[in-house]
Amino acid sequence: MGHQPRIVLGVCGGIAAYKSADLCRRLVEAGARVAPVMTEDAHRFLGEVTLSALATEPVRTSLWDEREPIPHTRLGQWADLVLIAPATARLIGAYAGGLSHDLLTATLLATRAPVLVCPAMHEEMWEHPAVQDNVALLRSRGVEVVDPATGRLAGGDVGTGRLADLPDIVSAVFEALSAGKGAVERDLAGQRLVVTAGGTREPLDPVRFLGNRSSGKQGHALADEAAARGAHVTLVTTAGRAAAAGVRVVDVETAEEMEQAVLSLAGDADVVVMAAAVADFRPKAPADRKLKRSEGVPEILLEPTPDILAALGEHKGPDQLLVGFAAETPAASDDMRREALAKLRRKRLDLVVANDVLAPGAGFGHDTNVVLLIDANGAERAVPLMDKREVARVVIDTVVEMRSRRGGGADPDPVTEPGTEPVTEQGVEEVPRKGRHQ
Ligand code: PMT
Repeated sequence: MGHQPRIVLGVCGGIAAYKSADLCRRLVEAGARVAPVMTEDAHRFLGEVTLSALATEPVRTSLWDEREPIPHTRLGQWADLVLIAPATARLIGAYAGGLSHDLLTATLLATRAPVLVCPAMHEEMWEHPAVQDNVALLRSRGVEVVDPATGRLAGGDVGTGRLADLPDIVSAVFEALSAGKGAVERDLAGQRLVVTAGGTREPLDPVRFLGNRSSGKQGHALADEAAARGAHVTLVTTAGRAAAAGVRVVDVETAEEMEQAVLSLAGDADVVVMAAAVADFRPKAPADRKLKRSEGVPEILLEPTPDILAALGEHKGPDQLLVGFAAETPAASDDMRREALAKLRRKRLDLVVANDVLAPGAGFGHDTNVVLLIDANGAERAVPLMDKREVARVVIDTVVEMRSRRGGGADPDPVTEPGTEPVTEQGVEEVPRKGRHQ
């Protein structure tokens, strides 16, 4: 590997331009070199200084900067990927029509790198046949278009046209890089993974449930990462989120439904990763009609749910690798390690991924996480604050290393990057805050 991906980040003049600053930061944190190119109109929405402070390369704005002749061909050749976020209707039209009137459009025509376009505009504009035709034309030429999301738009109304969620864009970038450049090894090719995600919902009555704060982001990131590396992935999820192409999704709601799905799939799986937040208790007798306030405060009796991971540990196949998570709220600094180790032993895991869900940016709902990996030999790997997709990469790296040591891996040459040596039997290894392509 040894290659840090080089991304030209094109920013157009739309209200979503402010999000491109955060996108730039995420890409840099994920290990990319980012060269922003702003259109003239982008300056109306975002200051150049903001992007300059976050990017690894200088911000460029003009074809006519005398210090750098022909900047568009240099940028086009330099880039491993050109990302346009946000992309306006005008940019999409110009690119589809082969017009180059500024540095960004000229770079798009001058590059042979994969191009990823993330449109953001008002719903009426997005749905206009001219825009849709241009998008279809770009797609037919191999340009990847990350569809806009539905939600509140700049005018205050709700519709489709909002810039796609940033974690989805980051995932699409790394998938496009892996497909285009082979930068991600397909070191899980042929392996079968079952991954769980999201929080289970245990009904109290037909309209209420006991739930938890899991968004499913960490589990989905694991499934997407494993699929990008060639695995056959089945994702059992409560989250109702989109998964990467190639991930088979099984939607469930309760712990019992998750148990049935996981146990029926686990027999064929090489690796099971339980990232879901499964309820430990559920109402013993959920009401079959809505509980009414006028009937007084109900007394709700709880009963334990099945422990899916413990059942998996009990029936684990000889070559199967079992990965559990541990969501902890430790009072003292060593409590998390102790609790996670206890879960690893009790549930007969090969690897446990512990997160302190009270730590800033970690655990439930965040786009980032901070985790400690502990394997069955007690070897540890500490992962600092990172995007959940990058955390997923470290977890999958560790799984690949463990399988290859057992002789069960798909690839005899697993991912090892400088500074991320395999888990050893002594001490805690710190994973540096950097991306996959260093
Ligand atoms: O979904 P996000 O918003 O991205 O948040 C990610 C996360 C915080 C949910 C994730 O990182 C995480 O910690 N998942 C595990 C949550 C959890 O239930 O932890 P636990 O310590 O209570 O359970 C330990 C393990 O047993 C987990 O792998 C869990 O899936 C499993 N379990 C728990 C209870 C149960 N009845 N059956 C189980 O299989």
